[in-house]
Amino acid sequence: MENNRPSWTSRYAFIITTIGSAVGLGNIWRFPYIMGQYGGAVFLIIYIILISTICFIPLINELYIGKLTKKECVGAYESINPKFKPIGALNPITGILIASFYFIVGGWIINYIYKSFVCNQISDFGAYFSEFIQAPLYPCILTIIFLFICIFFTAKGVKNGIEAANKVLMPLLALILIFLVVISLNLPNANLGLEYMFKPDFSKINSEMVLAALGQAFFTLSIGMGALLTYGSYIKEDKSLVKSVYTIILSDTAFAILAGIMIFPAVFSFNMEPNSGAGLVFVTLPKIFSQVPYGNIISCAFFVLLLCAAITSGISIVEGPCATLIERFKVSRSKACCILFFVISIIAIPATLSFGILDHVKIFERTIFDFLDFFTSNIMLPLNTLFLCLVSGWYLQIKGNRIIKNSLLVLLFDFGLRFVVPIALICLIIMGLK
Ligand code: PHE
Repeated sequence: MENNRPSWTSRYAFIITTIGSAVGLGNIWRFPYIMGQYGGAVFLIIYIILISTICFIPLINELYIGKLTKKECVGAYESINPKFKPIGALNPITGILIASFYFIVGGWIINYIYKSFVCNQISDFGAYFSEFIQAPLYPCILTIIFLFICIFFTAKGVKNGIEAANKVLMPLLALILIFLVVISLNLPNANLGLEYMFKPDFSKINSEMVLAALGQAFFTLSIGMGALLTYGSYIKEDKSLVKSVYTIILSDTAFAILAGIMIFPAVFSFNMEPNSGAGLVFVTLPKIFSQVPYGNIISCAFFVLLLCAAITSGISIVEGPCATLIERFKVSRSKACCILFFVISIIAIPATLSFGILDHVKIFERTIFDFLDFFTSNIMLPLNTLFLCLVSGWYLQIKGNRIIKNSLLVLLFDFGLRFVVPIALICLIIMGLK
C-alpha cells in the first residue's frame, strides 16, 4: 500500500499547497474582523509573537508525524499505538464538520462575484446580506457548487488536482491581493487605516485578546484537523522541515497583514466602522465598492481573491478525510470523493438553512452553523492539537534534535511541545467553553 501512496513532486509543491491550506477565509475574512474587534495594532503584535513562537511547534509537529509515519491520520495514530486509533479518527471527523460550515461561506463568495456586476441595484447591503443568507434554496445550491469545486480538484489526485490547483490559484491570489492593496493605499485618508493597524494602544491588551489571537493563529495555520498531517505524509525527500515551516508561517502572516492593508484604509477612507464583525467583508466592503469608480471590477477582483483562498483551503479540508477513506477502507479516490460529497452535503445543507427556515433548530443554544463553527474552532481543533502534542512530547518523547539543527531552538521546542503548547491549548479550550 505504502508504495502506492501519492507524494509531492517537489519541495515547492509541498510548500505552496501547505500555504494554500493556511491562507484562506481565516486570513482575508476572519483576521481583519477579529483584529477590528480587538482594537487593531496591539492585536497584530500579539498575533505575530504567538504565530512565530507557540504555533511553530504544533505546526512542525503535525507535519513531522505525517512525514514520519507516511500514513493518513487514523493510520498514523495506529502506528504509534493501536489504542490511539479513535483519537486519530477525530481528525477526519473534524475535517468533515469544518467543511460543512466553511463551504457555506464559499457559496456566499460565489454569489458576491456574480453580484459585483449588479450591485448598483442594491441600496441597503446589510438588509441584502441577511435576506440572501435566509433564502431557502439559493444559498444551498451555492454551497453545493463550492463543495463540488473543492471535491473536483481533490478527486483528480495529489499531483494533477491538489498541486495543480494550488500552483495556479496561489500566484493569482497574490497578484490580485497586491493590486487591491495598491488601490486601497491610494484612497484619500488611507493613512488612518494604516495608523489603526500599526499604531498600538497597549492599554487594550487583555487575556481574552491574547487567547483570541492564539485561536486565530491556530485556525489560520490549519493546525488540528489532520490536513497538515496528511500533507506531511506526502513529503518524499528527507529534507529539513524547519525552513519550509518558516516559509509557511511567514507567507501566511504576510497574506493576513496584506488583507488588513487592503481592507482598513478603505474602511477608514469611507468613514465606516472597522469593528463591524463578520459582516465586514459581506456588508461593509460591498458598500464601499458601490461608491468607488470601477467598483464592480474591484469588487469582482476582491471576491475572486477570496474564492481562490477558500478553494485552496477547502481542498486541504477535504483531503484529510479523503485519504482516510482511501487508505482505511481501500476505496478508490473517486469513490472516496463521492462519499464525502454526499456526507458533507447532508450536514452542510441544514447548516446553510440555519440562517433561514431552520433558525429555530438549536444545538446547545446555537444555530447549526454557529454550533459547527464553535464546536470545531473552539474545541475540536485545539483538542486534536493537544492530543498530538501529548502523543509526540510525552508518549513518543520526540526530541527537537530529530527535527531541528539549531540547539537553542531544540531546547525551546522540547519545552514548548511538552509544557507551553499543551497549557496554552487547555486555556484555549476552557475559554472556548465559556
Ligand atoms: N487555514 C484555513 C483558513 O485560514 C482554514 C482551515 C482550518 C483549513 C483548518 C484547514 C484546516 O481559512
